[in-house]
Amino acid sequence: MQEFIYYAPTEVVFGKDAEKKTAEEVKKWGGNRVLLVYGGGSVKRSGLLDRIEAELERAGIAFKEWGGVKPNPRLSFAQAGVEAAVSFGADFILAVGGGSSIDTAKGIAHGTANPGTALWDIWTQKVPLTKSLPVGVVLTIAAAGSEMSDSAVLTNEAIGRKQGLSTDFNRVKFAIMNPELTYTLPKYQVTCGIVDIMMHTLDRYFTHTKGNQMTDEIAEALLRTVIENGRKAWKDQTDYEAMSELMWCSSLSHNGITGLGAEKDFAPHKIGHELSAKYDVAHGASLSAVWESWALYVYMEEPGRFAQYGRKVWGVQAEDDVAAAREGIRKTVEYFRELGMPVCLGELEAGVLTEEELVDMAERATGKDTFTVAKFRELHQRDVYEILK
Ligand code: NZQ
Ligand code: ZN
Repeated sequence: MQEFIYYAPTEVVFGKDAEKKTAEEVKKWGGNRVLLVYGGGSVKRSGLLDRIEAELERAGIAFKEWGGVKPNPRLSFAQAGVEAAVSFGADFILAVGGGSSIDTAKGIAHGTANPGTALWDIWTQKVPLTKSLPVGVVLTIAAAGSEMSDSAVLTNEAIGRKQGLSTDFNRVKFAIMNPELTYTLPKYQVTCGIVDIMMHTLDRYFTHTKGNQMTDEIAEALLRTVIENGRKAWKDQTDYEAMSELMWCSSLSHNGITGLGAEKDFAPHKIGHELSAKYDVAHGASLSAVWESWALYVYMEEPGRFAQYGRKVWGVQAEDDVAAAREGIRKTVEYFRELGMPVCLGELEAGVLTEEELVDMAERATGKDTFTVAKFRELHQRDVYEILK
């Protein structure tokens, strides 16, 4: 194993009825006045929010609702949430939902602990983050992995920039995970989630760093588990076994453990964020739409690594590394298709993009060629453009 620091301090409460422990967990982590952050209404319709509020009331915990987070969450909504949390005197932020609600909650926590500092200044690290409020999560979708990750992503809609922030202050105190809460998801969100879970491991797996066998084995096992259970979930998303495996994979795929000791790449994510910033494309769809193009563009940097992926994850038999690499890529894309996910830009809701739009995204991704994207192959503006094209 190569050197690494592993820090994944989130307490996980997993299983049926796990949400009944919410009030107990909030108390344990010092919450007495809670801002409840949620999305566009799914948790109201399912009755989950009512149940959680009843639990908080019983435990004598005061709370204020902050609902209306949109997918690809907006900076302005998080900033307004900061004002709401400050005026309420919140000492704890609880997200009930998916990555968008969790990332908004993380943003609100940072802003509330640093009143008077613009959230975007924290996000762009103009002002160093030295303190935050505790955050807890009741998870309703297996996808982003924000429930255990050190990152959060907000879109500054005023400048069309989707920006991530990585810091240990983004590690939440606890994550409540009841797989049954995912049964009400639209099918498209289930499949977007499957792609995102795979991608958090794939974006770490394609690295030139050698000598991390345990990390590789964990990554390969996780990918095989997601592929198998993703198929079952596609057929029946009330299959507890399938949804529970996916939910745990979502957390492990992005808490760091599938990439320990290795240099990270994350090119598909960075390119995908440009698509989401500009066209509000669902995150998972932005990834499946660019992955094949990226993989075919870079795999000759180290065909042996892609061949290992093909053999260990997809059972590819080819002895020649280039053939095995290409077959692994082909099987991945075939799988995304099987799930009904877009595999090129033309299949996204945004439709066929113009030349100018492609150039604009390549410029934004590379700061007009002032920096490169990713590590497996460092991508310049021209490369990002070619991949998008
Ligand atoms: O808003 P509501 O009404 O709740 O509906 C949501 C939303 O429309 C719906 N949904 C969620 N759980 C549901 C449900 N509908 C019915 N039943 C349920 N149980 O699903 C839609 C998507 O929700 P969202 O929170 O956006 O999903 P996801 O978890 O995929 O999060 C995506 C966001 O996370 C970011 C993405 O970029 C995107 O902005 N990411 C965050 C990361 C992190 N913090 O570590 C890493 C990821 O790479 C990713 O970038
Ligand atoms: Zn992702």
